[in-house]
Amino acid sequence: MQNELETRLTEAVIARLGDDADPRFRRIMQGLIRHVHDFVREVELTETEWFEAIKFLTATGQKCDDKRQEFILLSDVLGVSMLVDAVNHRASGGSTETTVLGPFFVHGAREIANGDDMAAGWKGEPTLVSGRVLSVEGRPLAGALLDLWQSNSEGSYDVQLADTGGKQLRAKLRTDAEGRFGFRTILPTSYPVPTDGPVGLVLNHMGRHPMRPAHLHFMVSAPGHETLVTHLFVKGDPYLESDVVFGVKDSLIVDFRRSESQAEAQKAGLKAPFYSASYDFVLRPAGEAKQHSARSAGDAVKS
Ligand code: BEZ
Ligand code: FE
Repeated sequence: MQNELETRLTEAVIARLGDDADPRFRRIMQGLIRHVHDFVREVELTETEWFEAIKFLTATGQKCDDKRQEFILLSDVLGVSMLVDAVNHRASGGSTETTVLGPFFVHGAREIANGDDMAAGWKGEPTLVSGRVLSVEGRPLAGALLDLWQSNSEGSYDVQLADTGGKQLRAKLRTDAEGRFGFRTILPTSYPVPTDGPVGLVLNHMGRHPMRPAHLHFMVSAPGHETLVTHLFVKGDPYLESDVVFGVKDSLIVDFRRSESQAEAQKAGLKAPFYSASYDFVLRPAGEAKQHSARSAGDAVKS
């Protein structure tokens, strides 16, 4: 049976919020205090469990640096990142659906020309990706900027590897006058999120696998439009139904078609067999929803 103090305490903590506190901050803190207190009451948290939680959060912070963001990973595997994305980017008017930014975005990728290879020098299955960037009215957006990043064929991003010689498997690309883009790369593969930190331990305790289905990351921006942060997922991947970060949406699953044709491959500057995928991104007008922000792991450790 709960005693009166247990419920009074919640109101007492909320009552201490200063009247001059920023109204939005007040609202956020009130909600946070209520939910954390409710959680403690609901599960009757023991002192040992609370101390374990504090040790876990401490270790999570200690694992972070300018390349590794264990807190983003924690938010991702608990579905919080996708929930924040969902409440801020409700799909409308046929615009492309969004998904998690993830911890591996890096500012300042090199700009490549349409048709170039963003994976030059990396082994993997040759792949051609093309499409258009459009407004919700179907107008091609010329000069739209695509920021692309992906893991290598073993499932690692450049920032996870020592000595990759700078930014790898990342590029920026602009659409042409008809809103078209195209680039060569390697076929993405499914991969595990990093499991050598506290989040990996917790996933294991929860009896969950750490896998993400194969995908390419896109951040697409154009003046007057909301920046789109999304992925294209490879149809047929075995982890589409159980993505560890809950990021898959049906509209983002794409057929990466395998072709054996040497003639087709040559046209694209590739060797057969190769894969090709096509997708049109639709950007909604700016101001309809909150802007998506492009944050790298490094941004979280800057003061
Ligand atoms: C990623 O797709 O790069 C990613 C997203 C969330 C957590 C870990 C990795
Ligand atoms: Fe990824």
